Amino acid sequence: MLKKPIIIDTDPGIDDAVALAIALFSEKLDVRLITTVAGNVSIDKVTYNALRLLKHFGKSIPVAKGSAQPLLRPGIDASDVHGVSGMEGWDFDEPDYGLLLPEHAVNAMYRTLKESKEKITLVPIGPLTNIALLLRMYPDVKEHIAEIALMGGSLTRGNKGVMAEFNIAYDPEAAKIVFASGLPIAVAPLDVGLKALVLPEDSAKLKGMNHTGDMIHALFQKYRGGSMKTGLKMYDSCAMAYLLAPEMFEIVETFVDVEVQGALTAGCTAIDLRGYLKQAPNAKVCVDIDDVKFKEWFLKSLSVCI
Ligand code: RIB
Ligand code: CA
Repeated sequence: MLKKPIIIDTDPGIDDAVALAIALFSEKLDVRLITTVAGNVSIDKVTYNALRLLKHFGKSIPVAKGSAQPLLRPGIDASDVHGVSGMEGWDFDEPDYGLLLPEHAVNAMYRTLKESKEKITLVPIGPLTNIALLLRMYPDVKEHIAEIALMGGSLTRGNKGVMAEFNIAYDPEAAKIVFASGLPIAVAPLDVGLKALVLPEDSAKLKGMNHTGDMIHALFQKYRGGSMKTGLKMYDSCAMAYLLAPEMFEIVETFVDVEVQGALTAGCTAIDLRGYLKQAPNAKVCVDIDDVKFKEWFLKSLSVCI
């Protein structure tokens, strides 16, 4: 079976760690490059975390360090959700720094895309700063991109602003550039992540499943994206679920734009399901998820890890 080539742009981040495990051990995906972007915690910490995760997974994927701050605004973080290190809960081994490329993430993405015989899918599961810079610095790169499958945005309310989901709230201008790119875009917004829950009985199955399951179970004890009692929200895994099992979603083609001027609403994704803005669709949005199917898929995907 031909594997789908992807580049993952990430800000690990505990839910990023789970999504990376699912992607790296999937027989359907060919992870060509991992790029890091400041978001949950600083660029140095997310890059260190990406390398530590690869060491834990035993995977030798090139990593390129990316943007340390949003395009225009001051940075924010989500250390309240992921811990000061961004990966609280497990005592990782020191990483293999030999995987860290000397290039900036944007240049590594551009080179990887240009060198590939086939188009590559970009999978941003953090703020969109690197992706926006890639599209602005190298406009010719678009013909090498199959799709952008991202976790971000919200059909309704936010989790970092009244109306803003974290990845978009971190860099609204970058998100606006990406949604205006004309590229095929798929969106896994907050709303499906809120239903993609890991309950205590699910988390218990991870412990002893394999070395990755043990690590994820330990991280979940510190993860504050939801609660152990009511369920932990697997936001970033929804982007991988869209690629690997899209049938679990209700998907709608619609127009999406990003508010960048609102003093109270900057970072809001205007997902125009009823066509008020009279614009042609520019994205496929996952508007609902079968939470039972997600749970089965989630645990099965992690069962093949080491
Ligand atoms: O709002 C959820 C998103 O913000 C996820 O990508 C999580 O890792 C944080 O980056
Ligand atoms: Ca993330």
